[in-house]
Amino acid sequence: MSVALRLAAGGAVLVAAAVILFETERPPMESIQRGYRGLGMQQIYNPRILANVAEENQAIASLPRFPDSGPKAGAVYKNVKVLGDESVGNFTRLMASITTWVAPAQGCAYCHDVNNMADDGLYTKVVARRMIQMVQKVNVDWKSHVAETGVTCFTCHRGAPVPANIWYNNPGPIQAGGMAQTPAGKNHPTGVAGLTSLPFDPFTPFLEHDADIRVVSQAALPGSDRQSIKQTDWTYSLMMNFSQSLGVNCTYCHNTRAFTDWDQSTPQRATAWYGIRMVRDLNTNYLDPLHDVFPAARLGAEGDSAKVNCATCHNGVYKPLFGVSMAKDFPELTTAH
Ligand code: HEC
Ligand code: HEC
Ligand code: HEC
Ligand code: HEC
Repeated sequence: MSVALRLAAGGAVLVAAAVILFETERPPMESIQRGYRGLGMQQIYNPRILANVAEENQAIASLPRFPDSGPKAGAVYKNVKVLGDESVGNFTRLMASITTWVAPAQGCAYCHDVNNMADDGLYTKVVARRMIQMVQKVNVDWKSHVAETGVTCFTCHRGAPVPANIWYNNPGPIQAGGMAQTPAGKNHPTGVAGLTSLPFDPFTPFLEHDADIRVVSQAALPGSDRQSIKQTDWTYSLMMNFSQSLGVNCTYCHNTRAFTDWDQSTPQRATAWYGIRMVRDLNTNYLDPLHDVFPAARLGAEGDSAKVNCATCHNGVYKPLFGVSMAKDFPELTTAH
């Protein structure tokens, strides 16, 4: 080999080493055993990443609640359709809280014509009214997932009008066409499933529509219970996204020697099962129908509205805000109306 070639080869090794060093997570890591010994049911945590995540996922203090006495908002104000039973004091407290949770920089004017608070002219107010109903729905009817912890606007919004983790139907890049040009929804890494070439939009089939999340066939012979390699790809893409959204390994929910077996899975897998159904409900009954309300700039490539996935609430941790309940301070968001 010539000197130049050797140098080049040496350089390449150095670059490769640098890539490995910086693209993977350096030790030491921490591991926590969660299942019986010998099953490999451990959670591996990177303490440095955990410290950052902890900082970003703190709940914020609630304003003190007023006594529930006095006139009701429905009697005093002109255009209150959801929160009419609240006392004026607590209605105003909720408005102030919503402002902190969703539009702290913009203030009341983000949703209101401040010269006429009753006016519904701004789309943000119309969306916010539906969001209040959505939060009530989650807290009342999806206790199978959110338990008594519940959610508030802050769970997703974290002080921003548009939550950090949202998704749109993703048709993928335009292809030239022809046999070699059918990517089958794959081979365009986007980060939804780590940096893999797995399908880049597992959300549309599984978290908007109710396609089967299956790899293992339940029947001995091929027939109606078809489980293909393609379905496997899509399922794994979704599962990688679950892990990444919650900051956990597969073993948080599965015993990896028998992914399909519920008897060998952790209780968290059942919670996740309800979570999938809840997310479908939110996307099809709350976010999708808002698509005529949102301005064009808020719509995706297919003209669809932004939607929710696990990361929208979880933001990288196993329970949003590490399980701290802000909803308990807002009975108007946790009771049926
Ligand atoms: C993120 C959107 C949003 C923000 C920000 C917001 N509001 Fe509201 N506001 C609403 C919605 C939605 C309603 C209607 C609630 C209903 O129909 O039950 C409403 C209704 C009201 C009403 C009743 C008006 C009427 O006569 O019908 C008042 C008063 C009000 N808000 C005050 C405020 C104040 C004060 C602030 C700022 C501290 C504020 N709001 C911030 C969304 C918002
Ligand atoms: C489960 C997650 C989630 C929760 C909880 C939630 N939202 Fe949202 N919100 C979204 C998503 C997703 C969007 C769509 C983002 C966009 O505007 O494109 C959105 C959009 C909005 C917008 C429109 C912002 C804009 O600039 O387009 C407003 C206003 C809003 N939400 C208010 C609220 C209020 C008020 C609450 C609490 C009563 C709430 N949201 C709770 C997920 C959530
Ligand atoms: C937060 C919990 C959770 C995590 C983390 C998780 N899964 Fe899953 N997994 C589920 C649930 C729930 C189902 C069943 C979904 C359904 O039936 O609707 C499932 C289904 C599966 C299936 C299909 C099994 C069958 O019956 O065909 C496979 C395979 C799978 N997961 C693999 C993985 C892998 C690999 C990982 C890590 C990259 C992972 N899962 C991470 C909750 C999880
Ligand atoms: C609307 C917000 C929201 C969305 C969206 C959401 N979750 Fe959750 N999730 C929660 C809350 C709140 C809890 C805490 C419940 C509790 O305290 O027991 C939770 C708890 C969990 C747990 C139990 C963790 C534990 O250690 O016990 C799992 C697993 C989980 N979620 C998985 C998912 C998956 C998978 C998705 C997406 C399919 C998802 N979640 C979507 C709000 C959400």
